[in-house]
Amino acid sequence: MIVCICRAVSDRQIRAVISEGASSMAEVRAELGTGECCGKCSRQVRELIDQHASTSRGCCGGTDCACA
Ligand code: FES
Repeated sequence: MIVCICRAVSDRQIRAVISEGASSMAEVRAELGTGECCGKCSRQVRELIDQHASTSRGCCGGTDCACA
């Protein structure tokens, strides 16, 4: 699914960059150009970064769960 329409960047591409070590909006932007144009993709990019951070530390990703 395309997340950044301006740069034609998909969620797969963003997840790949995050898996390779990008952990901030600036780092994803530097790699893929997300958020550089209209910025409408920024919230979804942030969610993907947060989701990876949650799952990589063994959390289910929920906001009200015991593991958060
Ligand atoms: S949708 Fe990503 S900068 Fe416009």
